[in-house]
Amino acid sequence: MKTKFQTPTGMHDILPIDYKYYEKVLETGKEVAEFYNFQRIETPILEMSELFEKGTGETTDIVQKQMYSLKTRGGDALTLRPEGTPPAVRLYLEHGMFNYPQPVKLWYYGPFFRYEKPQAGRYRQFWQMGLEVIGEKNSIIDAQTIQIYYNILKELKLNNLIVEVNCIGDQLCRPHYRKTLASYLRSKDSNLCADCKRRIKENPLRILDCKDEKCQAVKAHAPQMIDHLCEECKHHFKEVLEYLDEIGLPYRLNPYLVRGLDYYTRTVFEIFQEGKEGQAQTALGGGGRYDYLIKLLGGKETPAMGGSLGVDRVVQAMKEAQITMDNEKKVKVFLAQLGYLGKKKSLKLFEDLRRANIQVGESFDRDSLKSQLKIADKYGAQLTLFLGQKEALEGTVLIRNMETGRQETVKLENAVVEIKKRLKK
Ligand code: HAM
Repeated sequence: MKTKFQTPTGMHDILPIDYKYYEKVLETGKEVAEFYNFQRIETPILEMSELFEKGTGETTDIVQKQMYSLKTRGGDALTLRPEGTPPAVRLYLEHGMFNYPQPVKLWYYGPFFRYEKPQAGRYRQFWQMGLEVIGEKNSIIDAQTIQIYYNILKELKLNNLIVEVNCIGDQLCRPHYRKTLASYLRSKDSNLCADCKRRIKENPLRILDCKDEKCQAVKAHAPQMIDHLCEECKHHFKEVLEYLDEIGLPYRLNPYLVRGLDYYTRTVFEIFQEGKEGQAQTALGGGGRYDYLIKLLGGKETPAMGGSLGVDRVVQAMKEAQITMDNEKKVKVFLAQLGYLGKKKSLKLFEDLRRANIQVGESFDRDSLKSQLKIADKYGAQLTLFLGQKEALEGTVLIRNMETGRQETVKLENAVVEIKKRLKK
């Protein structure tokens, strides 16, 4: 039914049936992140716009086209966070975490906002689970970050995962490559889409990421970064790949993987499901190294590496793979009641059971015993308790073992102890 009010374009509700999946992703992400010693942070949904303009980068689609920005009544220019890395770095600097033992390992989960063209798997409000390792340059961290995301997705029972990796160089070798690439692109300029024509000057590497058919053809013969890496980058990347080999993680080199954010250096990665790779809107997650971002945002030169998982896409993949979530409440005891007095005593007994940590179900809104028993059956409860007028007056409760059919009456004040005795572990 088309109602008067709907979710804003590109934004979606999460219904109870889907929330189970979101919770599962969060729980699994948390468990894995904590195993690797990451600590959770929360940053505001709004940040100073300049943080993203500088951090995410002036030439990115995010800053040029996708930010939800506003001016507050006090005149501050703020933006709904489109991603989590600049906020994490701001937090690291603002709270003097450079004085902590390094690296500092942080993780976060929450909603992010990009004014994108809505399509399958691409929303204007979406959820990410992100990890950032700040203060470590060793290539083992690159491999481990990729491995953590792989582990989370595996733990969620997703199959056919494939990691695409690339190395996009550093301040030493990239400017060189940029020039080589730009001059190649200028020679093909008439075959590029309008956005890419503009990108030749601003950020030629992004053309490698363009999905336009015309640009794809140009890209196929473009010089590749991998052939223009300096010795240090080459060595770093070789180690990353060796680590990935060592842990047996399935990866594929994608020389065109450049990612849509300006801060990356050296290793970049994206995770796909086999058969769906190569399309930006199907990456389940991605990230990379960002060795210059901390300095750019006002800190000392500090190497860092991180990534994020697109939770909505992971949930979608889980549903497509028909991974089921246990939606039924696990009820061990069902409490059935009859009559006003019975209902009254039941309310108290229900609270006593909750405090004793016994999983109990009820149906206080029903009066008929038959319909309540049907629900008890559906729950698959081990025991059903009856509290009617007679029991209420006598101060007792009837316990029925649903398997054997055996019924016993016990005193209401002893009910919790008696129920515990009869419950199978
Ligand atoms: P990103 O590639 O822009 O990276 O986003 C990471 C993941 O978030 C994507 O792979 C995708 O699954 C999901 N995602 C992005 N945009 C949308 C959208 N509009 N709708 C649904 N899902 C989306 C970052 O955000 C970096 N901060 C990752 C990072 C952390 N790099 C270093 N540290």
